[in-house]
Amino acid sequence: MGIREKYYNNTRKPVGLLGKRMVNTMNTGHAEVSDWGMDHLKEINPCTIAELGCGGGRNVEQLLKKYPDASVTALDYSAVSVKKTCQVNKKAIQEGRCKVVQGDVSAMPLEDESVELATAFETVYFWPGPLKSFQEVFRILKPKGCFMIVNDTDGTKEIDQQWVQMIDGMHLYNEKQLTQYLQEAGFSGTRVYKDEEKTGFV
Ligand SMILES: C[S@@+](CC[C@H](N)C(=O)[O-])C[C@H]1O[C@@H](n2cnc3c(N)ncnc32)[C@H](O)[C@@H]1O
Repeated sequence: MGIREKYYNNTRKPVGLLGKRMVNTMNTGHAEVSDWGMDHLKEINPCTIAELGCGGGRNVEQLLKKYPDASVTALDYSAVSVKKTCQVNKKAIQEGRCKVVQGDVSAMPLEDESVELATAFETVYFWPGPLKSFQEVFRILKPKGCFMIVNDTDGTKEIDQQWVQMIDGMHLYNEKQLTQYLQEAGFSGTRVYKDEEKTGFV
């Protein structure tokens, strides 16, 4: 594997020095699509949030700002991501508003029905299943809880196949596939929003 492939494989699981660089890049590079996704969270005011596949923790910080009364549990299976998320959210951790957990989304060390909102930015491409992982998200959500997935592609961009070939275990899903997996996992009331120009969708 060349250095370029090695670097981009850190999007799936940041490790070592390249992983440290990658989490910094993700915090800036995913900001636009993440904020676009968060702007769609209009009708809820959650007190308990799980930010899944949290990467460098920038979105944890934004959720804590958006919901000043909420606490956020951030989860990622990469030690590099966990460390960076702890650094970015140090103050919130000290204040007891944020907890960072190392774990896999398909078997989370979180209680049944313990969160009101679960978020997943640019990460479900790598999740086991993803049905198995979505069932796990359903398990940790309270009744009437909300799960928001934000992806910047549905697999229709020209460059997409290059990413899929380069990054091990990456899968791109369109809205129909994601909706079907979500419904099979138990979710109802699924809604899709698309930015047709940029192919961001949530
Ligand atoms: C492309 S990064 C996105 C990070 C962040 N959400 C963002 O938007 O910048 C994907 C993240 O998901 C994490 N991830 C992928 N599969 C995971 C799994 N099965 N369990 C937990 N974390 C996972 C990776 O370690 C990585 O930090």
